[in-house]
Amino acid sequence: MRRENIGDISTATRELEQQPRAGSTSNTRVVVTGAGGFIGHHLVTELKHRGFWVRGVDVKYPEFRDTDADEFLLRDLRSPSECLEALEGSHEAYALAADMGGMGYIASRDAKILHDNALINLNTIEAARLSGVTRYLYTSSACIYPEHLQTREDVRALKEEDAYPACPQDGYGWEKLISERLCQYYASDYGLNARIVRFHNIFGPLGTWQGGREKVPAALCRKVALAKLTGNDEIEIWGDGEQTRSFCYIADCVEGILRLMQSDYRAPLNLGQDRLITINQLADLISEISGVTIRKSHIPGPEGVRGRNSDNSRLRAELRWEPQVSLEDGLAETYRWIEGEVQEMLAGPETDLQIAASFTSTSP
Ligand code: NAD
Ligand code: GDD
Repeated sequence: MRRENIGDISTATRELEQQPRAGSTSNTRVVVTGAGGFIGHHLVTELKHRGFWVRGVDVKYPEFRDTDADEFLLRDLRSPSECLEALEGSHEAYALAADMGGMGYIASRDAKILHDNALINLNTIEAARLSGVTRYLYTSSACIYPEHLQTREDVRALKEEDAYPACPQDGYGWEKLISERLCQYYASDYGLNARIVRFHNIFGPLGTWQGGREKVPAALCRKVALAKLTGNDEIEIWGDGEQTRSFCYIADCVEGILRLMQSDYRAPLNLGQDRLITINQLADLISEISGVTIRKSHIPGPEGVRGRNSDNSRLRAELRWEPQVSLEDGLAETYRWIEGEVQEMLAGPETDLQIAASFTSTSP
């Protein structure tokens, strides 16, 4: 069953909050902030599989599936008092809430993103300290790495120590870096048992695939699906398509988060794949999976860094593990889900068709 997004919190929506349900085998009470979002939703599901009692917190319910959380609180974490309510009585906390998106979103909203995400993280960590949380995991980003190390497509993979001297990407990256420091200061000054993970472009089913926040794997799956289902074989790609990235499947992301939380490792750690590919190659892979031939049209758009890859040496050494799912397998799952969503949209009312038509020009 789908839920509608709930942008603002009202008394009425709070009454929808779910009641605890049976099925927890652990006495550990876990809070996941951002549980209405892509990674948070999958993380809640996996924590439930592992027997934890889980509280999800977000300003909205998950968009595509009901949550598996025992309890789901609609709270705005920019507010200190709502953060305290969110963290109250918890033992472990995963801090995922953020105003976030792909390049089409973060490249043009520096002030709002830095302001809102700083408030979320300042309030969440302080509420965790006051609530006596025993383990805390903060979700940072590859965007904290200096832009001058990411100017070529055949980029050297980024090691954790490359973060300094600092020159992060956009207001989004600056906030992530300062919130990493915040975690480290809370650890040294207050003894908070904190972990910090730096994600590299995570993708998979149940992630945003339209509307402006989508990252390139979902955007290209949507464009290829539209090409297949409408017969218009041209898809638009921002830039010349020779910019490079690595992409990590959601199941590996969740596994990595849980392994890091269980480990004793406290310094920032990359979590991503280390297979570098161009955006043009990514489009070709998705086209192969879909079974449709596409024509690429390169248009101006926000490109971000020229190349970015994850160096996983420390990940392998510290967690004795690295992401396992191949890009082909992950994309096949993701494409299948997005094609279904696009199909549903195309079968929907006229307004949806108008949205679909607008996707033929996606430069922001
Ligand atoms: P997402 O946008 O799907 O989820 C973030 C959630 O935070 C959303 O559901 C949103 O409603 C919620 N949120 C925003 N403002 C809030 C507020 N004021 N109070 C409560 N909730 C609020 O993003 P995601 O992909 O699931 O990312 C999860 C975390 O991982 C974020 O911190 C993000 O910055 C980080 N990250 C993700 C990626 C990636 O590739 N997905 C890469 C690097 C870092
Ligand atoms: N989103 C998107 N949509 N990107 C496109 C498109 C499109 O239709 N066409 C080409 N691209 C290109 C972008 O121009 C960029 O060069 C590249 O694909 C990757 O774009 P994104 O997936 O949007 O973002 P990113 O990899 O630069 O950064 C993302 O990952 C970071 C972590 O690795 C963002 O989500 C960041 O917020 C995140 O922290």
